[in-house]
This record gives sequence, C-alpha cells and structure tokens, in this order.
Amino acid sequence: MSTQQQTSLEALSNELRRFEPPAELAASANVTAEVYEQAAADRLGFWAEQAQRLQWDRPWDEVLDWQPPFAKWFVGGQLNVAVNCVDRHVEAGNGDRVALHWVGEPEDDTRDITYAQLQVLVSQAANGLEALGVTAGDRVCIYLPMVPEAVVSMLACARIGAAHSVVFGGFSAQALVDRITDAEAKVVITADGGYRRGAPSALKPAVDEAVQRCPSVTNVVVVKRTKQDVEWVEGRDLWWHDAVEAQPETHQAESFDAEQPLFLLYTSGTTGKPKGILHTSGGYLTQTAWSHWAVFDLKPETDVFWCTADVGWVTGHSYLTYGPLANGATQVMYEGTPDAGGRDRWWSIIEKYGVTILYTAPTAIRTFMKWGDDLPGQHDLSSLRVLGSVGEPINPEAWMWYRRVIGGDRCPIVDTWWQTETGAMMIAPLPGVTATKPGSAMGPLPGIAVDVVDGEGVSVGKTGGGFLTLSEPWPAMLRGIWGDEDRYRDTYWSRFEGQYFAGDGAKWDDEHVLWLLGRVDDVMNISGHRISTTEVESALVSHPKVAEAAVVGAADPTTGQAIVAFVTVKGNVTDDDDAFREELRNHVAKEIGAIAKPRQIVLSPELPKTRSGKIMRRLLVDIAERRELGDVTTLADPAVVQEIDRTMGELAART
Ligand code: PRX
Repeated sequence: MSTQQQTSLEALSNELRRFEPPAELAASANVTAEVYEQAAADRLGFWAEQAQRLQWDRPWDEVLDWQPPFAKWFVGGQLNVAVNCVDRHVEAGNGDRVALHWVGEPEDDTRDITYAQLQVLVSQAANGLEALGVTAGDRVCIYLPMVPEAVVSMLACARIGAAHSVVFGGFSAQALVDRITDAEAKVVITADGGYRRGAPSALKPAVDEAVQRCPSVTNVVVVKRTKQDVEWVEGRDLWWHDAVEAQPETHQAESFDAEQPLFLLYTSGTTGKPKGILHTSGGYLTQTAWSHWAVFDLKPETDVFWCTADVGWVTGHSYLTYGPLANGATQVMYEGTPDAGGRDRWWSIIEKYGVTILYTAPTAIRTFMKWGDDLPGQHDLSSLRVLGSVGEPINPEAWMWYRRVIGGDRCPIVDTWWQTETGAMMIAPLPGVTATKPGSAMGPLPGIAVDVVDGEGVSVGKTGGGFLTLSEPWPAMLRGIWGDEDRYRDTYWSRFEGQYFAGDGAKWDDEHVLWLLGRVDDVMNISGHRISTTEVESALVSHPKVAEAAVVGAADPTTGQAIVAFVTVKGNVTDDDDAFREELRNHVAKEIGAIAKPRQIVLSPELPKTRSGKIMRRLLVDIAERRELGDVTTLADPAVVQEIDRTMGELAART
C-alpha cells in the first residue's frame, strides 16, 4: 500500500458524519433491509429470484455451474437480451414511454425515442447487420460518438446474438487496430464524426486507417452525424441510412443461451496489451437490471435516469444501455462535454427533463466544484432524488459538495464500486436502507461476497486494511479474457487462492464499513478511466528518439490521478524541450488516444534505479506529487534524482 493510501486511510477512519436514508424514500423504497438477510441465507436463491425479473424463453436447469474460475449462470436458460430491453416493454403496453431523451451537443439538437420507436430502430439495425452477413457468434466493433445509434447498434447485435466490442471514440486508430484484430470483428459501425466542444470532430479517418490493417473487416457502416467529408471505399463502406433505415421494421428475434457472448470490452491491465473482457447474457442482464433497480430505487413509471458515462466504457454498457433499458426506464443520453454551450449545461438538462437520478463520476463533480456553486444554483434541480458516483474513490469534500449543492441536502448518495470485469455494481449502499458516510461505498450488495485480505490472502476480519477480493462468483462476472484463458487465471485468480483479486486496496473501518483506497497495481485511474502505466510506457518507447520511459499516476485534484512520464532520450537529441515534449504527448495520443496523453513529461539523462537496475517508481510518484523525498541512499546515482526533481519542480510551476 502506498504512503498516500496509508494517509488517506488514517483520515477516513475518523469520519464521524453519517447520513440516514430520507424517510420518504425509505418508506417507498424498492428494497428493504431484509434483502441482505435473504441473500445471505440463500445466495443462489436470491439471484434466481432476481433473474425472474427478466423474460426467459426457456427456464434454466441450474442457477450456477462453478468450475473455478469458470462460471456459468442460469445454465440451460434461454433469452433474447434485446427483447428484454425493448420488445417486452412494448408488449406490456409501455411502447409510448420515452426510452431515450437524446440531447445532442449543439443546442436544440434533440431526439425523444419511445420504446416502440426503439423497437423499430433495433429491428432495422438487426436486419441490416444480418444483410451484411453478421450472424450469431460474430463480433461487431462499434466506434461511435454518444448518438442513439450507439445504443441501437449494441441492442441490434444482442438481438442477433453477435457480440459487440465498443471502442471509446477517444481511442486512436492504433488502439482500434488492436481491438478489431483481437476480436476479429467482421463489421465496424462508426460515424463521419461527432461534436466535441462545439466543433465537429472526425471519426471515420481513424477507422479508414485502422481497417486497412484489419483483414477480418468486410464492411464499415457509417452514421451521418456531422456531415463532414469522408473518404469512401466502394463495396466496403455503407451509410447507416442506406444499410439500416431502408430495412424492414420488424425482426424475428431468436432465443439464445444464457451464456451467449454479449460483448467484449477492452480494458487496461498491468501489462501493455488491453484485455478483451468477455460478458455473456443471462447473468449479466440479471445483475445489471437488479442493481440498477435497487441501488437507484428506480421507479420506471416516474423516474428520469441520467448516467453521464460514454457508451465506450463499462458504465455506459451496464447503466445506460442494458440495466436501465431492461428495467423500462426513461433516460437522458447526452452527446457532449459538460461545458458545451455553457458550464451549466448539465444543470439545464436536469431542469429541462426533470432528471430524478443522476449517475456520474467524482472527476466531474470536482470539476463542477471548481466552477462554483452559482451555476447549479441558477437551475431548478429539485427533481433529483438519488445521486450516484462511480469510477474512482470519491473524496469526502466532493461527496459533501455533491450532496449539498446538487442534491439540496435531501438526496442520498450511492457511491458504487465495480469494474469492467465485474460487469455490474458490487459494493454500494441501498438508498432506502443504508446510512452513508461521505466517501465510502459502504459495503457489498446483497448476493455479493467481498473480503479484505492481507498479502498472504488471509482475511483481515471485520476491521483492517488490505487487498479487496471477491470470494464467491456473481452473475455479471466476466467469463474470461477473449482468447486468453491463461491470462484470465493469472490476472484475477492466481494472486489469492480461490479468490478474485480486484487490484484495489480496501479497508473496513471500526464499524465494518468499507473504504476503497484505489489501485494497488500499475493501473492508473485518470478521470475514472483505466490506463496502465506499461501501456503508456510502451507508447513512449515506440517513439524513435525515446530510450527509456517510466510512467506514474500522480494525485491530481480534479482528475483523481494524472499521468506523469519520465523519459530518457537516445543519443544527442538537441530539440527544444517544449516542442519535443509536445511531440511525445502527441505520439502517445496517436498510439493510444488523447486520454492517455501525459500531463507532464520530464526529460532526463537517466532514470532513478536501484543498484540492481530496477526503476524506483515510488520515488517517481513522490517527485511527481512534489513530496519531500525519502531515503535515496539505495540508488545507483542519487544525483539523478535531484536533477529530475528540479526539472519536475519547474514543470509543475508552469502548469
Ligand atoms: O479502482 C477501482 C475504480 O475503478 C476501477 C475499475 O475501472 P473500470 O473497469 O474502468 O470501471 C470503472 C467503472 C465501473 C476499480 O478497480 N473504481 C470504480 N468505482 C469505484 C472505484 N474506486 C473507488 N470507488 C468507486 N466507487
């Protein structure tokens, strides 16, 4: 555990504030305290009951088949995920309910899509994909901005049993190549571009560049969003409006096995190559639907839910597409950045649509804190009743601000811990049941077993800190890493015998309340996005002038962590430092994506190493965070450290 984690741990143990669930919410809450006892008494029975919330075409024979570390849930059961998310709501008479209030970035560019309309759109897209030869078991890559077609495409894949692999629009052509190649995707769905901070930004060129190197791709379907000019490959490229909108409006959905692959989502691990996390159908939908309903206390008839995550991340999968739609919720989907059209854009959206439940990330909350209380204060936010947080530990100050300024001191905050791999929320309070402490995700949800263990894998018991593990399988758990069974075992199941190792540090306080303390591995968390240090290092050393690179995540008041890179160059590079740093930052953007650009790059003739040649990362973190340096006597050359520290000091003073 790092010094910083130790310090925050001490501070958190002193947290005495507690906020009881609002009486009115508690009185009408979807779940009550008994649910914990019920799930503890019969975990599989509890999940079987939650699975009944879905529409099954064939019932399952067995709830769980657990051959560690491989799980199958609802074995033998059959369902269609898209039918569960769309058609059954129409059949139940809710076709006129708005599924998506889509808000484009340009002011007044909006679309309301009802469940009945969504059924038509998804059916057409399913027909369109089938016409391109996509069949059950194939993979489709989705590289789109936050437009309704993203959700429609995901559901269309689910409808025909093809697995989607959504790649966040901020990733580069190279990142696309890696993901398309690993998944052997047949079709790529993209757009000419999207809107970003008031201006159209292109997407198709990255696809064009990538697909040249991806022989598995037979077609590229292009949504016309910004109307910018695009290159066109005849025979390969098709407009969405030709390939999809001309299709029949109905589609006969097939039933698929509960374990039919639903999607791959690539995420960073501790090694360079992103992992294709595999999720399947029945268990995933059960847990996303249940958790969305229970943790947000969703009332589908009256609530307006807004998850601000991009569909390119797991939060957008589980709490924009699958969970909310499985529950028949009405939700907002917003295309742009928080400051597009003014720094109060979010608050005007909440006011306009009467959003009742907001789910966002601490980094956004801290940004709004910086922008001041006035902006939210100018809007009527009284429709809000539950506030959610996800993606990184939320510091108590941000939690309190969220509660007071956005929630008007009346809305419970649900801090939800989970991962791409867990598929759905694992640790969170229940808003009508749990009294919350600012900054804590409180404890495991019903039906979820977590433990905190020491370095040997021994449980620390009811109080104490260590490594977070998951000690029983859960329905939405990843089923593996695409094409790499060994890596699945090694990454998650080898550190502690029989337990899933999450990669996070955690601590039970004196009242057996759980505090998440951030990653304990080489994964950074930048604005709630996972980026591995190794991945950025590999990108840097792929630049012809870079000899060696060490990358660390340094605490940042807004983004949680920020990327700081320490780089040594080959031979005599005499370039102007600033220009060269910029060149390197752009190189990283090209290799991975703009989200991975280092905040600072320190150029140095050498990196600090122990006498045995190991780079001292801990020391680099101290330098990056401008802390007093500890003992440097074990270093091969202590003068190197002083020089790096001085350069970092200069850079920090400039930013
Ligand atoms: O370190 C934890 C942090 O985000 C990691 C998972 O990242 P990703 O797979 O991208 O999924 C993010 C959205 C679910 C975790 O290992 N994390 C996520 N939520 C929290 C969190 N850390 C503390 N508190 C949270 N609520």
